[in-house]
Amino acid sequence: MRSKAALAAVLGVLALAAAHAEVDPQTCFACHGPNGNSANPAVPTLAGQPGQFITTQLIMFREKRRTDPLMSPIAAPLTNAEISALGKFFAGQQHAAPAKKPADQVLAAGRKLAEDYNCVVCHGPALKGQQHIPRLAGQQAEYLRTQLHGFKAGTRFDMDGNMTSAAQRLNPADIDVLAEYLSGLE
Ligand code: HEC
Ligand code: HEC
Repeated sequence: MRSKAALAAVLGVLALAAAHAEVDPQTCFACHGPNGNSANPAVPTLAGQPGQFITTQLIMFREKRRTDPLMSPIAAPLTNAEISALGKFFAGQQHAAPAKKPADQVLAAGRKLAEDYNCVVCHGPALKGQQHIPRLAGQQAEYLRTQLHGFKAGTRFDMDGNMTSAAQRLNPADIDVLAEYLSGLE
């Protein structure tokens, strides 16, 4: 009986928190683009990212594990309920088709690297991400390039170390091909 009452109380608090989770996603559009489809090469697209990836990254920014002069102040005041609502919202937005399709050569070379280096194993066969692993398909090329160099150098925060070790084998030319290939995928 007692634990049932406690559970009901917890659920009540959660429902209340959810009801108050109202950060207008429009505040995010200013940098991340309409519905989270970015047109800024340095700012990632959020539309169609797995919800769990968005929420984990927002928590990492809030806890100052991952830092960025533009993004950190936005994440700092967010509550768990707000973060959860934002994850759901952006995961549900339609990912816009990429502006340009890479040349056939880049498509072939990029696909080969993505398979040889196991990117497809974690990020999924179509590179659309899963759970806490991000979607790479259709992401801004410059953003992808910066993150890959960051993982390789150990300057981009990485929760479990998997991505830092995956980046070690990439040389700068591989990173250029992968960034162009991935950004051109639907
Ligand atoms: C003032 C500009 C700005 C605003 C407003 C902003 N962001 Fe960001 N956000 C950025 C930048 C820049 C990055 C990339 C940081 C980096 O390079 O590590 C980023 C990164 C992120 C990431 C990590 C994505 C990834 O692929 O790794 C998430 C998630 C995110 N923002 C969510 C949000 C949400 C949700 C909002 C609205 C509540 C928001 N942002 C508002 C600038 C902004
Ligand atoms: C063993 C699993 C694994 C493999 C293999 C892997 N990744 Fe990742 N990758 C991850 C995880 C997990 C993250 C999220 C890391 C974090 O922020 O904590 C990530 C993040 C990234 C990001 C950051 C994207 C963003 O929006 O912030 C890029 C870019 C990336 N991976 C590219 C690649 C490429 C290219 C390959 C192949 C060369 C690859 N990954 C191989 C697990 C993997």
